[in-house]
Amino acid sequence: MEQKAIFITGGAGGMGVATAKRFAAAGWKVGLFDLDSQALAQAKDEVGDSQTMTGILDVTSPEDFAAAVGEFALFSGGRMDILFNNAGIAPGGLLEDMPEATIRSIIDVNVLGVIHGVRAALPLLKATDNALSMSTSSSVATYGHAKRAVYTASKFAVKGLTEALSLELEAYGIRSADVLPGCIDTPMLRQESAKGAGRPFELSMLDGLPKTGPYRLMPASAIADAVWSAYHNSDQIHFYVPEEVGDTDRVKAHDIQAARSEIKAFLYR
Ligand SMILES: NC(=O)c1ccc[n+]([C@@H]2O[C@H](COP(=O)([O-])OP(=O)(O)OC[C@H]3O[C@@H](n4cnc5c(N)ncnc54)[C@H](O)[C@@H]3O)[C@@H](O)[C@H]2O)c1
Repeated sequence: MEQKAIFITGGAGGMGVATAKRFAAAGWKVGLFDLDSQALAQAKDEVGDSQTMTGILDVTSPEDFAAAVGEFALFSGGRMDILFNNAGIAPGGLLEDMPEATIRSIIDVNVLGVIHGVRAALPLLKATDNALSMSTSSSVATYGHAKRAVYTASKFAVKGLTEALSLELEAYGIRSADVLPGCIDTPMLRQESAKGAGRPFELSMLDGLPKTGPYRLMPASAIADAVWSAYHNSDQIHFYVPEEVGDTDRVKAHDIQAARSEIKAFLYR
């Protein structure tokens, strides 16, 4: 059987590295792509497998993406079993205070970055049996979070894109799914916590996180497990990590005020 291959953006970050480890250990070829060259070199050491390649990629550039997919095709033998569109940024703050450049960068990376990724990867995904387009959304795409309005909008966009592509790409036998993480222990969470995204968000971080329920701190390996499940359970579209993150969507379906109250209780404890 031919060796399968996964392409990961944000590949030098917490979830990217954890996912790379999971798939490399199972004998997959892994392509790690990121903006951060230093972190990429460390990531390659950590994944520690000769079947791993790295490449510098700014997901906001369609040209960069096309070049990265080209490099990956040479490495993988022209296949892409999973595209994991995972790169993201999460600046927070009140909408009224956020500089326009920050707003644009969130949309550029988190939304357009995913769109460019799918478009660039399509020829390889089409050429691969049972391929999966997987993206990283967020728990904020169940009910939006205060001081995360633009980030929320970007992750709702990813969730909507995932659903639309689950229909559109079906014609090519390509599946589409996303992961909606709650609080995952990665550099992003720690750095955002240190910077302080605003009082409610800051207070709720790390030590202050609840020990149970949707916003308990989860290891990055839980995301790797979700990507693994998405590839092997073909009919599910949204993967909530932990599963309780999905409760908000379920509550919201029949009582949006109840969902709002739940999020409010978490953010303003
Ligand atoms: N950590 C959490 O609690 C959490 C929760 C929900 C969703 N997420 C999402 O998970 C994804 C992965 O985040 P993480 O927690 O591993 O964070 P992380 O900061 O450890 O990793 C993100 C990676 O994306 C890279 N990146 C940023 N901009 C890029 C660009 N323009 N082009 C290419 N790479 C770029 C960064 O260099 C970094 O290595 C993100 O989409 C994030 O929004 C994280």
